[in-house]
Amino acid sequence: MELRINELKKSYGKVEALKGITYTFKPGVYGLLGANGAGKSTMINLITDNLKRDKNGGTISYLDETIGNEAIDILKLGAKFRAKIGFMPQQQGFYEDFTPKSFLKYMASVKGIKNQKAYDKDGRLIKRSVDKQIDELLQIVNLEKVAYKRIGGFSGGMKQRVLLAQALLGDPQILILDEPTTGLDPKERINIRNYIAKLGKEKIILFATHVVSDIECIADKVLLLKNGEIIADGTPRDLIELMDGKVGEIQINLDELDDYQRRYKIGNVRQRKEGLVLRIVDDNLPDEVKRVDNNIDLEDVYLYYFE
Ligand SMILES: Nc1ncnc2c1ncn2[C@@H]1O[C@H](COP(=O)(O)OP(=O)(O)OP(=O)(O)O)[C@@H](O)[C@H]1O
Ligand SMILES: [Mg+2]
Repeated sequence: MELRINELKKSYGKVEALKGITYTFKPGVYGLLGANGAGKSTMINLITDNLKRDKNGGTISYLDETIGNEAIDILKLGAKFRAKIGFMPQQQGFYEDFTPKSFLKYMASVKGIKNQKAYDKDGRLIKRSVDKQIDELLQIVNLEKVAYKRIGGFSGGMKQRVLLAQALLGDPQILILDEPTTGLDPKERINIRNYIAKLGKEKIILFATHVVSDIECIADKVLLLKNGEIIADGTPRDLIELMDGKVGEIQINLDELDDYQRRYKIGNVRQRKEGLVLRIVDDNLPDEVKRVDNNIDLEDVYLYYFE
């Protein structure tokens, strides 16, 4: 299974939101990392066909054995492709009177999801009714206790979890999540991340976020998106290796901070027991800085490319 985007471009009037992106996705978890306005949602909305592609705006094609042995543009595949994707948009309103259960039932009927038949490893037939699938999903996103409560009364994080469950309906081969952890508390973030990591082996999962910690442990590949372009990509390890020799720390006084900020890319300023410690990520580290070699992480990569 492959999803290929080739020279994908999109403009909104004079704003060039995507400037010709080329990438091939295979099963695995892909972290789409970028600051506000980088073009993450634009890319996702094109892939999910929720946004009209520009004329000569490149191609998005899909290949798997159910379709044949050639990649076909998703616009030609239409409903056949849409049936393969689960999508969690960045923003979505709800009819407030839906309950999680009634909303998922409604979405299952919109998506044409039917009772499933499958065989277990001993060859026994297992039937999973739509109802049962919904109950399982509500359990996964930790909403089973409020399955029959009005969504109108939910917190932002609970609404996010309803949306995530909706994206998982029908066990889609491609899962596209646009900032899925917005509004979740730390415990729920970890739950959802772990769940996504488990799903990732056979599906193509795109996880757009501007929060490094959302994806640093679960992404097989990370794409850094800036001003409508992929400026770096690779496994988290590849990206971290690129930072060799570029990360350092120095102990400073508060009144020196401005000067450093003017001259270098500055990471977090941390209060440690020895005083203020400044993290610098830069091609040319100043001499007085102590080089960091061992605990470089994806946050440093983010800083290097985005600050
Ligand atoms: N409907 C629209 N009309 C005009 N400009 C738009 C529209 N949608 C997005 N843009 C612009 O396109 C660029 C990319 O926006 P996009 O929403 O794809 O970024 P993003 O990476 O998803 O950002 P965020 O982290 O804020 O969700 C931005 O400059 C944005 O202002
Ligand atoms: Mg967005």
